[in-house]
Amino acid sequence: MKSSCIAAILLLAFVAPSLAQRTKPPPDYKGTCSDANCHDGYARRTFVHGPVSAGACETCHTEENTTDHTFKFKGATAEMCSFCHEEGHPGSVQHGPFSEGQCTSCHDPHAADAAFFLKAESTSALCADCHADALEGLTHLHGPVAAGGCTACHDAHASNFEAMLFAPKTETCNKCHSEVRDQVMDRAYIHQPVKEDCTLCHNPHGGASRMLLKTSVPQLCYECHEEVATQVKDAKVPHGAVTEGQSCLNCHDPHASDFQFSLLKDPMTLCLSCHDKKIDTPHGPVADMKKLFAENPSVHGPIAQQQCSGCHVTHGSPHFSLLKKEYPESFYTSYAEEQYALCFECHEADMVRDERTEKLTNFRNGDQNLHYVHVNKDKKGRTCRACHEVHASKQPNHVTDSVKFGKWDLPIHFDKTETGGSCQPGCHKPYKYDRSSAVVNVTKPTTDTGRSANREGT
Ligand code: HEC
Ligand code: HEC
Ligand code: HEC
Ligand code: HEC
Ligand code: HEC
Ligand code: HEC
Ligand code: HEC
Ligand code: HEC
Ligand code: HEC
Ligand code: HEC
Ligand code: HEC
Ligand code: HEC
Ligand code: HEC
Repeated sequence: MKSSCIAAILLLAFVAPSLAQRTKPPPDYKGTCSDANCHDGYARRTFVHGPVSAGACETCHTEENTTDHTFKFKGATAEMCSFCHEEGHPGSVQHGPFSEGQCTSCHDPHAADAAFFLKAESTSALCADCHADALEGLTHLHGPVAAGGCTACHDAHASNFEAMLFAPKTETCNKCHSEVRDQVMDRAYIHQPVKEDCTLCHNPHGGASRMLLKTSVPQLCYECHEEVATQVKDAKVPHGAVTEGQSCLNCHDPHASDFQFSLLKDPMTLCLSCHDKKIDTPHGPVADMKKLFAENPSVHGPIAQQQCSGCHVTHGSPHFSLLKKEYPESFYTSYAEEQYALCFECHEADMVRDERTEKLTNFRNGDQNLHYVHVNKDKKGRTCRACHEVHASKQPNHVTDSVKFGKWDLPIHFDKTETGGSCQPGCHKPYKYDRSSAVVNVTKPTTDTGRSANREGT
């Protein structure tokens, strides 16, 4: 309680009797208490309490000593009031000053310029007198609070709900924000805390920004999503989408959505809403993915399922390109199975492990495993990117169109047959492979670029 509040009450207690003595009526006085020059001030207020305007002062005051013109109260304040007003107010949650009978800490018993004979010029000023801390430090006030309506949500006396609200918390909000309720109810995925309590995220009175958030995003989200917080903070490779702009809200709807994980759009459209252009970064440009997909009709399995997250961790990752698991970053590398953990999450590692096979892969010449030949080397093993496009391609088997060689993009012409295929990279002569009868690729170097001259695979 504010000290001015207490001071005012003390002041009344001491000053009132002395004032009354000074202005006591003459002994033969026949008029009423509120006649001219006496207690006529009440009548000039905008709102005058029924018994006062009826001159029924004695319902509350009894003359104690006629000579001194002193009065005592008929009883404790609440008793006096309940003489005419129903006693108490139903509700399991009682407001302190109400249940303690301090009616006159809020109501003037005689008259006032504010409705309900409130002792302040408005309800919010009245409440703020004792609850200044509820609004402390809020730079943006909530609509109804700014309009002065503490009682838009709280009952001043008592109610059956927390904080004397007129309804349970979320219902209180939904009364005015039916548009949010309707949007939320319609959606397939509803964010758990929204079902529970709007005030887990919003301060009902105001906030540091118009959205009345208790803390700003992403901190707000981190308070409940520690794992994501760690993912973002510990990321060796951060994602601009998370660290810039609206942060989490670049991708998630805080209330509800028709897409899993409360995403704003389906994941593919979402990613391509930013990756629809080349993005320059300090470590080089990031490709225009929308263009890549538009130009390459054969998309890789997980992407056909709209699952960029089959390979990427959107929030931040320890691996380059936000990859979920290990994958070599360079064109050549010494082979180790765990370096390809990403691909081998969905594909059989055997495909590369065995030198000879009749079935582990179709990329073989007779029983010679050509995946083994190219990839499984102690030094300078080729990585999958030498031949495959992980996102989308024009050629079958997600074979890439071209390979980077220095600053050139050297085209790879991949021709598929029933039982094998041939490949003519721009850097050397074509090679052929055939699963049913092994092709003998010629090893002798040649300057001729004709397709007939096959070479041994390296
Ligand atoms: C409903 C009860 C009630 C009625 C009716 C009532 N009073 Fe009071 N009065 C009080 C209370 C309670 C106080 C104590 C001051 C406070 O708590 O605000 C008070 C205080 C006073 C005081 C002290 C100074 C002040 O204004 O606070 C005077 C004088 C007074 N009343 C005069 C009157 C007169 C004259 C009438 C009739 C015209 C009247 N009262 C009718 C309840 C009442
Ligand atoms: C003698 C009967 C009587 C007593 C005692 C009495 N009241 Fe009233 N009160 C009335 C009447 C009659 C009205 C309705 C007329 C009006 O608005 O003034 C009323 C109206 C009110 C209103 C406004 C209600 C509204 O809907 O506008 C408030 C607030 C109020 N009283 C508070 C109190 C408080 C606080 C006390 C005790 C200090 C008290 N009353 C004691 C008779 C009484
Ligand atoms: C914390 C401040 C506060 C206290 C204490 C308080 N009231 Fe009120 N009271 C209000 C406010 C504010 C309103 C107007 C409510 C609204 O805007 O709807 C009100 C309304 C009223 C009304 C009119 C509406 C109704 O509910 O019937 C009466 C009568 C009333 N109070 C009586 C009392 C009595 C009797 C007490 C003491 C037992 C009391 N009040 C204590 C703030 C208070
Ligand atoms: C005369 C001082 C006073 C006034 C005026 C006052 N309050 Fe209170 N209020 C208290 C006290 C005392 C408590 C109980 C102590 C506490 O829980 O902080 C309280 C508690 C509350 C609570 C918390 C209840 C809970 O369950 O946590 C709310 C909400 C509240 N008041 C709202 C209001 C509103 C709205 C108004 C204006 C209509 C108002 N108060 C006016 C003194 C006051
Ligand atoms: C839009 C509805 C709404 C309005 C308007 C509103 N409140 Fe509240 N108030 C709440 C809700 C909801 C809570 C419960 C908060 C919680 O549990 O976190 C609350 C809690 C409180 C509390 C309990 C302590 C606290 O801060 O959590 C006080 C005191 C309080 N309000 C005072 C006020 C005052 C004073 C006003 C007017 C200036 C006001 N309220 C206006 C909805 C409202
Ligand atoms: C009495 C009606 C009312 C209640 C109850 C109410 N609000 Fe509001 N709210 C408003 C108004 C009016 C605005 C201001 C709208 C504007 O400025 O366009 C607002 C604004 C907001 C905003 C800011 C967004 C914006 O468009 O400005 C948020 C967030 C919000 N309210 C959340 C809540 C929450 C959470 C609750 C429940 C604790 C709640 N409201 C209860 C009337 C209400
Ligand atoms: C998990 C945290 C969280 C919860 C719980 C939550 N909100 Fe929000 N809300 C937000 C965030 C974050 C924003 C800001 C969105 C933005 O900036 O685009 C917001 C914005 C709003 C807005 C303004 C924009 C709009 O969508 O109209 C309103 C109104 C609102 N919330 C009401 C509510 C209501 C009502 C509830 C309870 C049913 C609720 N919120 C529950 C986090 C939350
Ligand atoms: C008050 C705690 C709380 C806050 C604050 C919170 N969340 Fe949640 N969130 C949860 C809970 C509980 C779940 C459901 C359980 C789970 O999946 O962890 C959830 C689930 C989610 C989900 C998964 C949804 C799904 O369909 O599985 C996403 C995405 C999410 N939250 C994002 C956010 C974002 C973004 C923010 C910040 C704007 C945020 N959360 C703030 C508690 C919170
Ligand atoms: C709000 C815009 C935005 C959205 C949406 C977005 N990104 Fe990004 N992304 C960026 C920016 C900006 C970069 C540039 C590098 C950086 O800052 O991380 C980037 C970089 C990347 C990178 C390369 C990281 C590196 O350091 O090489 C990958 C991979 C990526 N995003 C994947 C995705 C996926 C998958 C999605 C969808 C789940 C997605 N992005 C959605 C803005 C976005
Ligand atoms: C670029 C878009 C994007 C941004 C920005 C983003 N997310 Fe996500 N989030 C996703 C996607 C896509 C998923 C689905 C699962 C996945 O890809 O890992 C997801 C899943 C989640 C999940 C549920 C699954 C899990 O990992 O626990 C939570 C919780 C979550 N995000 C919270 C956040 C928070 C908090 C932020 C802000 C720090 C944030 N997200 C920023 C795209 C994003
Ligand atoms: C099958 C695994 C896989 C899937 C699924 C996948 N990616 Fe990738 N992505 C990769 C790999 C591997 C790289 C690294 C490319 C490289 O260096 O060979 C990469 C790199 C990227 C880059 C960075 C490109 C650059 O120029 O640096 C972006 C952006 C990207 N992916 C976006 C996406 C989007 C958007 C989706 C979903 C539509 C997606 N990815 C789905 C594996 C995948
Ligand atoms: C999340 C699971 C997943 C991951 C991770 C994954 N793939 Fe795939 N991949 C598939 C599915 C499903 C198919 C079958 C559909 C298709 O042709 O795209 C496939 C097909 C392929 C094909 C074509 C096979 C054929 O028979 O034509 C190649 C090549 C390929 N993946 C390479 C890779 C490489 C390289 C990696 C690692 C960078 C990788 N994949 C990671 C799921 C995955
Ligand atoms: C030298 C080029 C080359 C390299 C390097 C390469 N592949 Fe292949 N891969 C192919 C060709 C060509 C085919 C098509 C075989 C056929 O169907 O005739 C193929 C087929 C595949 C298939 C389809 C299933 C199968 O084995 O026939 C998968 C899956 C695959 N590759 C994954 C990978 C992965 C993972 C890597 C990296 C570890 C990789 N490839 C490295 C050329 C290559």
